[in-house]
Amino acid sequence: MEINKVLVADAVDQACVDLLKENKIDVDCKFKLTKEQLIKEIPNYDGLIVRSDTKVTKEVIQASKLKVIGRAGAGVDNIDVDAATKQSIVVLNTPGGNAISACELTCTLITSLARNVVPGAASLKAGRWDRKLFSGHEIYCKVLGIVGLGRIGREVAVRMQAWGMKTVGFDPIVSADDAAKFNVKFLELDKIWPIADYITVHVPLIPETRNLIDAKVLAQCKKGVKIVNVARGGIIDEHALFQALESGQCNGAGLDVYEQEPPTEEITWKLIKHPKVVATPHLGASTTEAQVRVAVEVSEQFVALTKTNPSFTETLGIINPSVVAKK
Ligand SMILES: NC(=O)c1ccc[n+]([C@@H]2O[C@H](COP(=O)([O-])OP(=O)(O)OC[C@H]3O[C@@H](n4cnc5c(N)ncnc54)[C@H](O)[C@@H]3O)[C@@H](O)[C@H]2O)c1
Repeated sequence: MEINKVLVADAVDQACVDLLKENKIDVDCKFKLTKEQLIKEIPNYDGLIVRSDTKVTKEVIQASKLKVIGRAGAGVDNIDVDAATKQSIVVLNTPGGNAISACELTCTLITSLARNVVPGAASLKAGRWDRKLFSGHEIYCKVLGIVGLGRIGREVAVRMQAWGMKTVGFDPIVSADDAAKFNVKFLELDKIWPIADYITVHVPLIPETRNLIDAKVLAQCKKGVKIVNVARGGIIDEHALFQALESGQCNGAGLDVYEQEPPTEEITWKLIKHPKVVATPHLGASTTEAQVRVAVEVSEQFVALTKTNPSFTETLGIINPSVVAKK
């Protein structure tokens, strides 16, 4: 595939631009373009690289002569993959590049919830000395239910085992034997709900996982369960979670992702402001290391598609392989 000119439309690490240029691909960086500006610019490029800010809509795609669209990050929520596929445009992302960072934030949320770190710190900063109010509990020997045993889910399991947590989990494409290799006891979801002290989700947002944790599931959970979502908004029903926090059925939640981002719905804000919720603004991949990794991985795949540099041959993040097969 010939890729001569690439537009980088969101701020990605400089490593991305450098690697493309080293491989004789021209790069323009133009950030924060309006939809109209993007539609005007896009016919000049073979490739487009975005993070989350730029929405690569059907209109943008139809105005383009793009050959490839790359997302420096996991998931392609902001790219209309159907429209791109219809126009034979390769869409790729960097699925593993931020797994460790998302895993580490998950573990941070679990331990913060156990020890009331966030409300305790806020109270002290406000000049109070509320030692009794913020007494927590140990996570040693508590049961962590992990829904989704892919890249991030299994990294979380291994780290939380080091804290002495018992890990149980479910994933439709992972066998009990495979799960046992990383010390996770494989259980069906309905067996996980009643025994887990903490539940963390690490699945993609697809029709099968939308509202995976809803009022019915929360009612089956152990009273006082704590829920963590560093995957995608929409996997946990925000109304149901709020109700469970209010009733005490759920005793805490760690949330990094929301139904709408930035949040627009009143229910999302009610959750974020709830005293039992530790909420972060989609920071899962926001580390220096992850940003460099995803920047390098996206540009390496662009170079691999050109087949001009034998050092780069892997295109593991392609979302629509049928397009590549046709080329
Ligand atoms: N907060 C962030 O900034 C951030 C950063 C990176 C990734 N993520 C998100 O984290 C999630 C997990 O990422 P990953 O890299 O581990 O993905 P992955 O593809 O490696 O693993 C996802 C796993 O979920 C499993 N799964 C699918 N449907 C399921 C279901 N109904 N029940 C149980 N398991 C199911 C899949 O079989 C797969 O093994 C994704 O939603 C990703 O977008 C968020």
